Amino acid sequence: MVRTAVLVSGDGTNLQSIINAQNFGKIKNCQLAAVISSRPEAFALTRAKSAGIPTFVVEYKHFSNRAAFNEAVYQKLKSLDIELVVLAGFMVVLGSPVIEAFENRIINIHPSLVPSFCGEGFYGIRVHEEALNYGVKVSGATAHFATAVADAGPVIIQRAIEVRENDTPSSLQKRIMEEVEWKILPEAISLYCEGRLSVVGRIVNIKDKGVYS
Ligand code: GRF
Repeated sequence: MVRTAVLVSGDGTNLQSIINAQNFGKIKNCQLAAVISSRPEAFALTRAKSAGIPTFVVEYKHFSNRAAFNEAVYQKLKSLDIELVVLAGFMVVLGSPVIEAFENRIINIHPSLVPSFCGEGFYGIRVHEEALNYGVKVSGATAHFATAVADAGPVIIQRAIEVRENDTPSSLQKRIMEEVEWKILPEAISLYCEGRLSVVGRIVNIKDKGVYS
């Protein structure tokens, strides 16, 4: 079983999708060992507790700089013997030493088809505002390995949906979450935990592609 920590900051609907998929047996060989939040008031913590997952808070604003915060997150992950880290609405861009120590072992979900509408500052509703302002006809979400550069690591799964003429940023956000994010994040976790992912440079190869159980 791959000891997995899910890092959160907010509502935790992506965390919920992971918990649900785990309960339905859709994620293979994964142990949800911890949920770590950067904010004590995050509702994601309540979801984790209801699911019986140990919770921890490493509060971002308690640290004088990002390096100190990263060190604290790293120590927490090490002390919990975590192999896989999942960023599910985690609002801090991780850096050294976490990124190096967990190379190709941190999965992030981003609500656009990267490399469009992503990177520093692209989070929440802004992603969908920019996509609609640009006039794209499809959008979607991307599950990828995290590197030191926001949303720029090797792509694991991307899936698109059509943009509708009457879409607003919030209707697009909702559809992408429900139809894409909540599906591809658990799928990417399972692929990792089943040992079906290999990374060469920035290319992720999936063993027996198309067989998502
Ligand atoms: C999601 O849209 C996710 O793609 C992004 O942040 C949002 C988190 O929502 N990284 P939630 O906390 O999982 O509900």
